[in-house]
Amino acid sequence: MGVRSRILATFVVGSLVLSGVLFFFAFTLTRSNLRQREVELGLGDQSIGETLSSLRTSLILATVITVLVGLMLGIVSSERVVQPLVGAANAARAIADGRLDTRLEPTDDPDLNALTDSFNDMVARLQARVERDNRFASDVSHELRSPLMTLAASVEVMVSRRDELPERGQAALDLLVADVARFSGLVEDLLEISRYDAGAVRLTRDDLRVGEFVEQAIRASTLPRSTIQIDPRCATAYLSGDRRRLARVIANLIDNARTHGGGGAAVHVTPADDSAGHVWIAVEDTGEGVTDADIDRIFDRFSRGTGASKRGASEGAGLGLSLVREHVRLHGGRVWVEARRDGNPGARFVVELPCEAQAS
Ligand SMILES: Nc1ncnc2c1ncn2[C@@H]1O[C@H](COP(=O)(O)OP(=O)(O)OP(=O)(O)O)[C@@H](O)[C@H]1O
Ligand SMILES: [Mg+2]
Repeated sequence: MGVRSRILATFVVGSLVLSGVLFFFAFTLTRSNLRQREVELGLGDQSIGETLSSLRTSLILATVITVLVGLMLGIVSSERVVQPLVGAANAARAIADGRLDTRLEPTDDPDLNALTDSFNDMVARLQARVERDNRFASDVSHELRSPLMTLAASVEVMVSRRDELPERGQAALDLLVADVARFSGLVEDLLEISRYDAGAVRLTRDDLRVGEFVEQAIRASTLPRSTIQIDPRCATAYLSGDRRRLARVIANLIDNARTHGGGGAAVHVTPADDSAGHVWIAVEDTGEGVTDADIDRIFDRFSRGTGASKRGASEGAGLGLSLVREHVRLHGGRVWVEARRDGNPGARFVVELPCEAQAS
């Protein structure tokens, strides 16, 4: 039984008991009074009966009214008691959704103020902690960026003189080049994530011709020869988007097809099935696909699929798809993974973005 029902039941039962007691005393006292003064007042049995019967009717009516009033008071009181709890539940939900500046309104009720104060205090501490953690990731990435740039520049100099190195030196240099590139990518991803956390991401929007843009992004990716199929209905469609970030989305999905999805990617650009004014950019591969358990999880930060290390792709940090989701969301779109539609094994990552027939 909920708090609301318990309060309501207390009021109804209370008013019922109270009116029952009043009913009993009023009726029995009046009856014995009338009987005692029957002769003195010259009342007959019939008139006493009639008087008692009309008294009973009035008392029953009074009982009904009392219970109804009790019910109404119960509803009002339970609403007043439950209201702050509903407010606290809504605030907790808002905080869980990331709105950390949510607070409970102070009330003039001293009993409730203890709850409000400790709740607000807890949220303030949580907010400070989350902000400190966000700043930490951003500060560390910034600090790492400059030595990393120096390292990359030095490595570049060594690469230009690679032929002068002995064979073992060349092998070591190749490993260094790969690791510096991976490290730079990781630091860039961490910086981008801290910008999202700080709410500091501003899109630099351009009108992009969908087909042309996807083709360019694929040419600049790690699998430039991937197959591209563009539905004629999308060839002239435009989307208003941030060129760098959307190219990153496509590059990340193609990179994943290369490392986790069997090595090849095919990209399909089609109008969205069910939402008009949207385009789908789908990247398909020929790997093992994504298991049901991983379908949502892999879009979380630092989350890698259960089969990732098994497939020998152990070097990824698990940030790529979380950034894809943030970029796409900021463009008013969504991204998900599903099985390939032609029934062949492999994953199909779909990016849905709003688009228009003409440039705005
Ligand atoms: N095309 C795919 N096929 C099967 N699994 C995939 C595919 N793409 C991603 N995954 C799974 O999703 C996980 C998360 O991908 P995500 O791109 O976020 O991280 P990552 O590729 O492991 O590392 P990073 O992109 O940060 O270098 C991967 O570890 C992999 O298990
Ligand atoms: Mg990746």
